[in-house]
Amino acid sequence: MRVIIKDNYEEISKSAAELVKNRILNKSNLILGLATGSSPLGLYKELVKICENKEITFKKIRTFNLDEYYGLSPDHLQSYRYFMNVNLFNHIDIDKKNTYVPDGLAKDIDKFCNDYEKKIKNTGGIDLQVIGIGGDGHIGFNEPGTSLASRTHLVILDEQTIGDNARFFNSVDEVPKAAITMGVGTVLETKEIILLANGIKKAKIIAQTLEGPVTSMITASSIQLHPKVTVFLDKEAASELKRISYYNFVEKQLAKMAISL
Ligand code: GLP
Repeated sequence: MRVIIKDNYEEISKSAAELVKNRILNKSNLILGLATGSSPLGLYKELVKICENKEITFKKIRTFNLDEYYGLSPDHLQSYRYFMNVNLFNHIDIDKKNTYVPDGLAKDIDKFCNDYEKKIKNTGGIDLQVIGIGGDGHIGFNEPGTSLASRTHLVILDEQTIGDNARFFNSVDEVPKAAITMGVGTVLETKEIILLANGIKKAKIIAQTLEGPVTSMITASSIQLHPKVTVFLDKEAASELKRISYYNFVEKQLAKMAISL
């Protein structure tokens, strides 16, 4: 696992965008896993810029989003489909038909979830998965206690998550109580993961995730089992890590060896 610590949010966004750009330049039909939340917003802004500058194209790219609120239609202002359109897809040259977000209105939930997994498999699998981290250490919407082998499924949200996400709704009562999310097992099967976190609020959970034991009580800690992970943190989110000087030392040495992202 590579842990990259930068001074601020803008720098982690730029650095993560550099990695995504390099992967797209290496594979024009990359299968990209995407996340919502505020953490990847800066990365998406950078990708829009890079695409506008014609450094990369998304014409052959297919994307799969991690999760969607259950009960929200794609045009609901707080749906993750809407979020992705407004913050990324509307501004890049991607064919929206190649962008998949779980269906928040799926009637046969099990069938939908199995089909989502099949769709991912049929592409050959996700090459690069972007993730953020929830306040309780969830990835996607995999709340504490979710099996580390879980696949795409319906989840009832934790009260902490409902509270955390209430800031996007008029009131906490409006926050959906359920979601469809890729499972932890689905995320671990991707070929590469990048995790983005910023701000002091994430410091404790980041330290537990990266330097604590692997546990289903913090589903993000499962990334310790993944062979190819890069974590992008600002100084605040990194502030409770014990091995900061080692992570910085690694980056210095890699830079000297001209090993880039
Ligand atoms: C939601 C999403 C997660 C995201 C988390 C953190 O719960 N389902 O994928 O990582 O929010 O959001 P933020 O980046 O705004 O802190």
